[in-house]
Amino acid sequence: MSRLVVVSNRVAIPGENRAGGLAVALQAALGERGGMWFGWSGRTVRGDSGELHEQRDGDIRYVTVDLNRADLDAYYNGFSNRTLWPLLHFRLDLVDYDRDTRLGYGRVNAMFADRLAPLLREDDTVWIHDYHLIPLAALLRERGIGCRIGFFLHVPVPSADLMMAMPDHRRLFSTLYAYDLLGFQTRRDNDRFQSYVRLYGGGRIIEPDLLQAPDGRRFRTGNFPISIDTAQIERQAAAAMSKPALRNLRTSLERRMLAIGVDRLDYSKGLPERFHGFERYLQRHPDQKGSLTYLQIAPVSRGDVGEYQQLRNQLEQIAGHINGAHAAPDWTPLRYVNRNFPHATLTGFYRSARVGLVTPLRDGMNLVAKEYVASQDRENPGVLVLSLLAGAAQEMPEALQVNPHDLDGVADAIATAATMPLDERRERWHAMMERLRKRDIHAWRKNYLAALESA
Ligand code: G6P
Repeated sequence: MSRLVVVSNRVAIPGENRAGGLAVALQAALGERGGMWFGWSGRTVRGDSGELHEQRDGDIRYVTVDLNRADLDAYYNGFSNRTLWPLLHFRLDLVDYDRDTRLGYGRVNAMFADRLAPLLREDDTVWIHDYHLIPLAALLRERGIGCRIGFFLHVPVPSADLMMAMPDHRRLFSTLYAYDLLGFQTRRDNDRFQSYVRLYGGGRIIEPDLLQAPDGRRFRTGNFPISIDTAQIERQAAAAMSKPALRNLRTSLERRMLAIGVDRLDYSKGLPERFHGFERYLQRHPDQKGSLTYLQIAPVSRGDVGEYQQLRNQLEQIAGHINGAHAAPDWTPLRYVNRNFPHATLTGFYRSARVGLVTPLRDGMNLVAKEYVASQDRENPGVLVLSLLAGAAQEMPEALQVNPHDLDGVADAIATAATMPLDERRERWHAMMERLRKRDIHAWRKNYLAALESA
């Protein structure tokens, strides 16, 4: 088996990050065959970008690169998160296109390629992740790298007409043709990408999932819905119930039911709509008023970007309004918390919640939806309210699916979830859980790597 090299903007350096499911899976893949994880160090430095750091853990090397403020602003805060992120989440209204940040994005990707190329061997398998690094394979190929290179996009692919609305779209997106395999979350993302290639990207579809670039180079595409470490989360959630944080939460609820949402504070997550949907629930279902408390955990994310700061202000205002209008002296309907919690504690929160609220306006997959289900007590599982605009909806038809823009629909789904009989809760949960056991994060990375290696 060839050595595996994983490249992503964020690197889960052992001991530093709270390793999420994806990090665990990639580390498992790297551990099995030996390899390297390459990416940004997470550090902003004065002076020049590009200093390398290396750390080893068994057979895994972690090689990371520092960025200076100007590069980070152009590449990460700028082009990645103010241009590509909104575009890929169908938010043309929020796209800020700027030639300088586009150049900075290219410059940082080229610097990554300069640093990475000398570390690669002819028979490596390279797996590059997400929208920060779209042009990296093309830049590596320019530097003489001929090994197998795959890409996985964690976020959605928008409609072709949105993609072509970005200035210079073809210059950027045609760099994807340098990969051997392009992996997307769902069949729909894969289809939308193919229609972009056909309509605006100058390429051709040769046969299903085999595409040809204008220069004749062929590459494959596929859909690989990402998942979670189901068994691990199941164990974690059960174990978390005896933690003080969980006991405190239960006591504070005073036998009321809990609805929970956990999302990065991001406009793609539909949080203002969800808050309004919850208020609509209180208005439309006065008989249930006081029986359910909604806890929204929303750690601040990308706080240097203006749109994220505005969202934070907006949510504070809506939360204040809802509690002002609906709270009682002994009950606060909405608890809104901006801090992050250890992952194990979150799984305990999920298990304590009768209702899981996952209502993004767009999401590549959404792993909170899957973790919520995997965390439930099989004897008394809660109900997932899931946006049909999340990738996860494709695999979770037994959730109560909602359109996050339809506030009445969200309100009624919360009411249905809160009163759903135990038999029905169990039935829905079982079907989803069985699928999650089969299609966990390890199956995901094995499927992807098998497809890349045979591409
Ligand atoms: C999404 C992206 C990831 C990113 C994560 C957190 O899930 O697909 O690539 O790492 O958000 O965002 P951040 O900007 O903090 O890395």
